[in-house]
Formats: sequence, structure tokens, C-alpha cells
Amino acid sequence: MERWQLRVAEVSDVPAIQELIDSSARRLSRGYYDSAQIEAAIAHVFGVDRTLLVDGTYFVAVNTDGLLRGCGGWSKRRTLFGGDQFASRDAAVADPAVERAKIRAFFVHPESARSGIGRALLARCEAEARAAGYRSAELMSTLPGVKFYKACGYSAAESVSCTVGGVQLEFVPMRKAL
Ligand SMILES: CC(C)(COP(=O)(O)OP(=O)(O)OC[C@H]1O[C@@H](n2cnc3c(N)ncnc32)[C@H](O)[C@@H]1OP(=O)(O)O)[C@@H](O)C(=O)NCCC(=O)NCCS
Repeated sequence: MERWQLRVAEVSDVPAIQELIDSSARRLSRGYYDSAQIEAAIAHVFGVDRTLLVDGTYFVAVNTDGLLRGCGGWSKRRTLFGGDQFASRDAAVADPAVERAKIRAFFVHPESARSGIGRALLARCEAEARAAGYRSAELMSTLPGVKFYKACGYSAAESVSCTVGGVQLEFVPMRKAL
């Protein structure tokens, strides 16, 4: 079984993270979104949010060859989803007393899927958010992400539709008490 460990992502990881996101989305979204939807999501929604890198709350899973096998993070900021290229953002800090921490941009390399990387990334994010005072977490899941987050204790609200690049995409808001 492949060995990997988590570390905090650095700005120098951005090109490799973007490559990982693209291949994860293209392979692991099949059957949930069609290819036009996947390409629209990659172009307009999925991607690195550098705010998390600056905050030190984005992580990568790296194997023994130094290759990135997964990425994901959490945020104290109000932006719910979307990479740097996505227009809807709010960098204001969410008040832990009344607002939720955000779980952001989880992607695992298709060849390393179902080996526990997603779960390990999520556990790290939840522990840090809890330590920062947050009592619950929320996220906007892709359709392929729903079973994963449910397995990790998140409950789903009704799905929402977003039009990006002229294509309609369905996402599912999810949350969990920490
Ligand atoms: C969602 C994703 C991050 C999960 O990562 P992962 O490392 O494969 O997940 P794990 O191996 O930690 O899985 C933990 C549990 O989640 C559930 N799970 C994960 N992927 C699943 C799938 N495709 N179908 C059903 N259950 C799944 C299982 O219960 C699994 O436990 P098990 O393998 O012991 O049965 C990964 O599939 C991915 O990158 N998907 C494409 C990108 C994406 O849509 N990301 C979500 C962004 S919001």
C-alpha cells in the first residue's frame, strides 16, 4: 500500500495542486457530471484558493516519491467554495461563536482514491477548526463528494444549482457539528 503523509501546503505547491485537482476532477467526477460540466467546473470553480495557503490551513498528502496524492483544507473565512478564479468570495473572518468553519477544496489523485487520504485530511481540518474555537463546519460538496462526507458524519441539505461558464452544475451544502 502506498505510503504518504500530510503537510501544510506552500505557495510553491500551487502548480502541482492545480494539476492534481484537474486529474482528480476529470476522473473521479465521471458518472456524476458530464464532460462539459467537469470542464466548466475546472475552468470556473475548482482550484487553489491562495487565501488558505497564506493562512496555513491547506494541506497536501505527499507520497514517498514526493508526489502529491491529495489536497484539502479548512478556512476561518466566509468564502464557502471556489478557487482564486471564482467570483463569489468573502475573506471576512467567520465568528466562531455563531458561524461555521469552512471545509474547502478536497481532491485526491484518482490512483490513490479510497486509501484514506480524504478522511485523514478531513480529520486534520476538523481538529484545527475545533482548536480555533469553531463548533461546527460546513462545505459545498460536489456530487462525487457526497458519499465521502456522509461517511465522515456530514449531513446534506437540498442540492443547489449554479450556472458557470454557461453550464449548470449541481452542488450539495453539507454540515457537521465538530
Ligand atoms: C471525495 C474524495 C476527496 C474522497 O477522497 P478519498 O481519499 O478517496 O476518501 P477516503 O478513502 O478517505 O474514503 C473515506 C470513506 O468515504 C466513503 N467514500 C469515499 N469515496 C467514495 C465513493 N466514491 N463512493 C462511496 N463511498 C465513498 C467511504 O465510506 C470511505 O471509506 P471506505 O473506503 O473504508 O469504504 C475523492 O473521491 C475525490 O477527490 N473526488 C473528486 C473530487 C471531488 O469531488 N472532491 C469533493 C470536493 S467538495
